[in-house]
Amino acid sequence: MQHNTTCFPCNVVIFGGNGDLAIRKLLPALYNLDRGGYLCEGTQVIGASRTDIGRDGYIEMVRQGIDEFGDPDCWDETVWERFKDRLNYVAVDARNLDSFKLLKKALGKSFTQNDTVYYMSTAPDFFGDITDNLAAAGLVSDRTRVVMEKPIGKSLESSKTINDAVARSFPEKNIYRIDHYLGKETVQNLLAVRFANALFEPVWTNAHIDNVQITVAETVGVEGRWGYYDDSGALRDMIQNHLLQLLSLVAMGVPVSLDAEAVRAEKLKVLKSLKKMSVDRVRRNTVRAQYTAGNMDGRKVPGYKEEEGGVPDSQTETFVAIRADIHNWRWRGVPFYLRTGKRLPARYSEIVIQFKDVPHSIFPGTANMSPNKLVIRLQPEESIQLYMMNKLPGLGEGMEVTPVTLNLTLPDRIADSRVPEAYERLILDVIRGNSTLFVHRDEVEAAWVWADAILDSWATATVDPHVYPAGSWGPQAAFELVARDGRSWHETN
Ligand code: BG6
Repeated sequence: MQHNTTCFPCNVVIFGGNGDLAIRKLLPALYNLDRGGYLCEGTQVIGASRTDIGRDGYIEMVRQGIDEFGDPDCWDETVWERFKDRLNYVAVDARNLDSFKLLKKALGKSFTQNDTVYYMSTAPDFFGDITDNLAAAGLVSDRTRVVMEKPIGKSLESSKTINDAVARSFPEKNIYRIDHYLGKETVQNLLAVRFANALFEPVWTNAHIDNVQITVAETVGVEGRWGYYDDSGALRDMIQNHLLQLLSLVAMGVPVSLDAEAVRAEKLKVLKSLKKMSVDRVRRNTVRAQYTAGNMDGRKVPGYKEEEGGVPDSQTETFVAIRADIHNWRWRGVPFYLRTGKRLPARYSEIVIQFKDVPHSIFPGTANMSPNKLVIRLQPEESIQLYMMNKLPGLGEGMEVTPVTLNLTLPDRIADSRVPEAYERLILDVIRGNSTLFVHRDEVEAAWVWADAILDSWATATVDPHVYPAGSWGPQAAFELVARDGRSWHETN
């Protein structure tokens, strides 16, 4: 099956090709693209890493990865045989120019014949070395694109250093910064719901919306990456990128088109309009917390500091709740409540747009009245639901109303195919050279300006982070943050 009429072969080189992300996500995604007929004949995938595991060793590793982390329903021996033939492996040391010559040799003529995508799935410290050495080895041209994984720095300053280093060899238009949340199907559907319907846009303002809530709840702990996580924390790991990207898609104005530049320009305006977090605002409008030992699904789990590799005096936050404000005409006065945490009781990501109450209720008894909400669920399942009030059927006196949900999720007849993984969408977009769902340098930096202010205040704060037992919905302070404004977190079921 071939879907793209303008299909052309591409070289995909993955630095960190035998690392965790590559084996769990990137290779299974490429395999699925091949299965769907999205990889053209002649497309090759080259794993590049320091260890010399050889092509056969790599093929075996990739197969095991697809077995373990891929969708079992997608396994197809014929597809695997084809995919396997596309795989190659080169031992490349990011800091050794000579090893890039081996890569050049492996690419051979296809480097000049085809587009080449370099996917940097390594620690960001290596990004500059990799791109410098690619340039020095003559492996950069107009037809090469480079993908950067997060984290892009730990602060505005360090992100600038990384971006400057990569910019020495690649122009911005050929740099693709991944935020895998943008590849999630419902996140793209958000754009369709907002801009392909006349219904919502007129009410998408502070005149009609009371507040917006974005929750990304995880049940997992730090999954064996304590060192990385402790250096990062939930604000850097989730809020500065994923949640702010979701916020900017919810809050942006109508772009002139779906072109990368048009969409990014609107998102950037939102990020630049985020109200600066002064020390006082950080104290009032942010809650950080760390999980302690608790119970998850009847199983005892250790606290954050007792996880493998943990140290007892860590102050790193595994949970954050924040009230963010956007100071522009559309959003002035509408709080955006952001919340994320590890070891929470359920895994789900959700955006809730809560509309204002009716100005005056003509129905007797207000106990059942609740405001309209548009609830956009990104995972584990994708759905969009509109909460409405309806009459309760019956012959009772007066008219009793009750909340009902209108399901705006795709009917089965449309959604009869599997929902692609975020990385499938994003890798295919890089191959096609479409950067709409990628993050521009200006966005990364605007997000850091806002996040840095919070991190700086926390660093000098005299109070310790709150604590919450694993398996709970975070500290009481996170509920109080919203309750103080006369609101509550949307309860999901
Ligand atoms: C990553 C974070 O970017 O996103 C992880 O580094 C987090 O800590 C993950 O677990 C969540 O992604 P998803 O797609 O499972 O919600």
